[in-house]
Amino acid sequence: MGLGTVVVTGAAGKVGSAVREALRGEAGRLVLLDRVPLRAEAANEVVRTVDLLDAAAVESALAGADTVLHLGGIPDEAPLDELLDANVLGTHHVLEAARRTGIPRVVLASSNRVTGCYPAAHRTAPRDPVRPDGLYGVSKAALEALGRLYADKFGLSVICLRIGSFEEEPSEPRHLATWLSPRDAVGFCRAALTAPPSTRFATVYAVSANTRRFWRLPTEADSSTAEDFLAYTPLDDAEGYASRIDGADEAAGPGEPQGGRFALPGFTLPHLRSGANGR
Ligand SMILES: NC(=O)c1ccc[n+]([C@@H]2O[C@H](COP(=O)([O-])OP(=O)(O)OC[C@H]3O[C@@H](n4cnc5c(N)ncnc54)[C@H](O)[C@@H]3O)[C@@H](O)[C@H]2O)c1
Repeated sequence: MGLGTVVVTGAAGKVGSAVREALRGEAGRLVLLDRVPLRAEAANEVVRTVDLLDAAAVESALAGADTVLHLGGIPDEAPLDELLDANVLGTHHVLEAARRTGIPRVVLASSNRVTGCYPAAHRTAPRDPVRPDGLYGVSKAALEALGRLYADKFGLSVICLRIGSFEEEPSEPRHLATWLSPRDAVGFCRAALTAPPSTRFATVYAVSANTRRFWRLPTEADSSTAEDFLAYTPLDDAEGYASRIDGADEAAGPGEPQGGRFALPGFTLPHLRSGANGR
C-alpha cells in the first residue's frame, strides 16, 4: 500500500510536525488539519483549520483521502469532559467520516498511558487488559475501543499506535524505558499507513528500541498475531543518553507503576471537578 492522499489531524502538534516534514516527500497529497491555523509549505500540502468536534467539517476535510493519521486531541491529563470531547468524540468523528467517505485505513494515536498502572517489571503486551494511569489513559482506551468497533462492525482497517514519550532526546529517567525518537515515530507512522490491507485491526507500542523498555515491540518473536504486529523495527535506544540523565541509575523499582509520576493520585486529583466529575 503506497502513500497516496494522507490526512493528518493534529498536524500543528509535536508529533504532527515531525511526521509532516518526513512524509511531505512521500505522499501524493498531505491534507493537514488542526484547530490552529497552518501554512502550506509544499505544493502537495493542503491545510484546513478544523475542530474535531465539528463532524461535518471533519467529513468534508477527509473526503477523497486514502489514509488518515489521527494525532489530534489533548495529549495529557485533563478534566474528563474535555478528554471525552477532544479524544473520544473527536475520534468518533474521524472514524465516522472515514466510514462514510470510504477511507480504508485509519491510524489512531493512542498512548502508553492506557497501561501505565502495570508494574515496571511486567513486560506489557498489547493484548494485556488496559490499566490506565489516569483520565487521559481512559480516554485513549475508549479511542482504541472505537477503532476496534469500526474495524469489526464496518470493516475499516484501524491501527492503534500506543506512543511512548516522543522527545528529541530522552531527558529524565523514565524516558530510558519510554522514549520514542522522532525518526522512530515517523517509522511507526509510515509502517501503519502502509501496512497491507489485510491488517484489519492492530494495536502496537510505538517505542524506540530502548534497552529498558517496558513494552513488547511489534516485531518481537513472541508477537505472533496479526493484531499486535507491525512491520517496523525501531532504530534508536535511549540507553546511549543514560550518562547525561540525572538519576539514570535509580531505575523504577519492579513494583512501581510504568506510568511513574503520571500514575500517582496527585497527578489526577487537580483535574477532578466537583459535581459531575468528582467531589
Ligand atoms: N507526545 C507524546 O509523547 C505522546 C505520547 C503518547 C501519545 N501521544 C498522542 O499523540 C498525539 C499527538 O501528540 P502531540 O505530542 O503531538 O500533541 P500536541 O498537543 O503537540 O498536538 C496535538 C494537536 O491536536 C490539536 N487539537 C487538539 N484538540 C483539537 C480539536 N478539538 N480539534 C482539532 N485539533 C485539535 C492541537 O491544536 C495540537 O496541534 C496525541 O493524540 C497524543 O495523545 C503523544
